[in-house]
Amino acid sequence: MKKEKVLVTSALPYANGPIHLGHLSGAYLPADIYVRYKRLNGDDIVYVCGSDEHGVPITISADKEGVKPKEIIDRYHEQNKEAFYKFGMSFDIYSRTSLPIHHETAKEFFLSYHKQGILNEQKSQQFFDEKANMFLPDRYVEGTCPKCGYEEARSDECEKCGSLYDPSELVNPKSKISGQTPVLKETSHWFFPLGKYQERLEDYIKEMNLKYSWKENVLQYCKGWFTDRLKDRAVTRDLDWGVKVPLDNADGKVLYVWFEAVLGYISATKELSMQQNNPELWKKYWLDENTKYIAFIGKDNVVFHTIIFPAMLMAWNDASNEKFVLPQNVPANEFLNFEGKKFSKSRGWGIDVIDFISKYPADPLRYTLAANLPEAKDTDFYWKEFQARNNSELADIFGNFVNRTFTFALKHFDGKVPERKNLKEIDNEMISLLKTYPEKVGNLLERFKIKEAVFEMMNLARAGNKYFNDSEPWKLIKSDKDSAGTAINVCLNTIFTLAEIFHPVIPMSSEKIFKMLNSKSVDWTDAGLENIKPGHSLNQPEILFTKIDDKEIENEINKLPAEISSEPVDEITYDEFKKIDLKVAKITSAEKVEKSDKLLKLQVSIGNKKRQIVAGIAKSYEPELLINKKVIIVANLKPAKLFGIESQGMILAVEDADGKLNVLEAGVKVKEGTKVQ
Ligand code: 2FM
Ligand code: ZN
Repeated sequence: MKKEKVLVTSALPYANGPIHLGHLSGAYLPADIYVRYKRLNGDDIVYVCGSDEHGVPITISADKEGVKPKEIIDRYHEQNKEAFYKFGMSFDIYSRTSLPIHHETAKEFFLSYHKQGILNEQKSQQFFDEKANMFLPDRYVEGTCPKCGYEEARSDECEKCGSLYDPSELVNPKSKISGQTPVLKETSHWFFPLGKYQERLEDYIKEMNLKYSWKENVLQYCKGWFTDRLKDRAVTRDLDWGVKVPLDNADGKVLYVWFEAVLGYISATKELSMQQNNPELWKKYWLDENTKYIAFIGKDNVVFHTIIFPAMLMAWNDASNEKFVLPQNVPANEFLNFEGKKFSKSRGWGIDVIDFISKYPADPLRYTLAANLPEAKDTDFYWKEFQARNNSELADIFGNFVNRTFTFALKHFDGKVPERKNLKEIDNEMISLLKTYPEKVGNLLERFKIKEAVFEMMNLARAGNKYFNDSEPWKLIKSDKDSAGTAINVCLNTIFTLAEIFHPVIPMSSEKIFKMLNSKSVDWTDAGLENIKPGHSLNQPEILFTKIDDKEIENEINKLPAEISSEPVDEITYDEFKKIDLKVAKITSAEKVEKSDKLLKLQVSIGNKKRQIVAGIAKSYEPELLINKKVIIVANLKPAKLFGIESQGMILAVEDADGKLNVLEAGVKVKEGTKVQ
């Protein structure tokens, strides 16, 4: 495969809290797998990341703790860096945006736009907290999204529907500092004319998609913003924490965090160049149109990487001889949830990377997350799945194959690779299969189909085990030692191929296997060949994967808070609640619905009115036991047909610990038809 020059970035996480498994699945593990693969493929690659240390998320955390922002960023930068490295992330640099090199870079971009006359200074209405006597940027204000009605929307951006809007459009705003309704007050800011770039951006995305096939979810997000038309964006804020606006008349103003954070990728690469005593190195990647730039992010960051950052680079490139490369692909992932619900630090739902890694090795976690990446839709981390992937796949399939092969080679061939002799069909088939794997897996990784690639990797371990079983070396050794040797040679070379193609996902285990094989990785393309030759001495085997028992997993599950039994649901107003007509109804007849094992057809009376309701409670009640029960129904639900039978309402029921539904009953004294309030 042609060797490429590749620049990879992962979203710079805010240094205001510990990273959890959801972060890893979004922007970090997929990038690391891709990068490790590209390195083995011999591509010239640089991988940068670092902490995002400005903006309101940091100041909010500092306010909460009553400390200075610097204390927060220093703490979490170090903590997250350590967590990432323990998890096996192989950044070439993990930088931070509080460094002078970053401040200089960000100011340089701002000044270029200012000099070109692109930025327009506009007076605008911003939220101001009269009690705290300060302007309230972005996340200090919460309200209802003007587009979708989400009630925890930020002042200018909705996390739920992804809309960007003017703060004045936010419905029912509240200050996060004082809890009061802020007022809109005039202030002056510099705006980047995003709208003017819309056509160029649309062309850029169209071209990239045509050439490099962007992910459908990413294209859909972009389409939404283009349909709404891009609006000019303020790139400064009234705040004292951040990169100071490098102009005379800008006291108390800093660059908008997103405007400078994306430039953090460039400044991080510059810092790497300085560390390597090669100050021009960053230019080799950023300023070469042949560089393949891949930006890994989670779905909440799409607009900044497909629209705002490219527009900023276009604007710089228009006026400079230094032409920056734009992202060639932005393979954003959806979100990972935890045991069926969103990660929530405040509600204790989820687990931080640093805690996880202090209990379990990184590789099984990497494997579990990689096998279940939210590539096309949200997915979940389940403790039981983690156990199953570790025990039944890594240990029972992969580990077992490696172990039985090594044990056999040590016992019968003195720890040396035997020769391939008297090749039979079964051996040739396995040898041919091995040769196909690097390309098969590589092609998937090139297209960011990591989940599928991981599935294929484990398939090769499955095939190795099957080959060992089918060739029966334990029988051959007694009658035909040469053929037994052939099988062991092929198995050892299969283990080599596995160590290489699995390396991006489970690098620590892969290193162990190479050590056991007394060998080193080769160019990815050659990984399916006979890489360890007859006579080569093996080392002693080590345990690769340790099984995790049920008790341990139960313990982890038991530690989760019990009260968080459901997702927080959207609040409704009293007026909305009043619309639901809840009434007490007496069941007068009940019968099974033909051809359905779930449904019962019920007749109920609500005072002098009769109703027919089809309810999904057949598995929980014998029909006759329901007669005369006074239940609660939603009386104004639109009629619907179930199995061709009209249902004119709904019965309220709750599920018990055995999964049985219990209808809610009113007391015997309550009359039918009574309204529930
Ligand atoms: O969402 C976040 O955590 C942001 N700090 C990501 C920034 S990515 C880039 F702009 F640096
Ligand atoms: Zn919204």
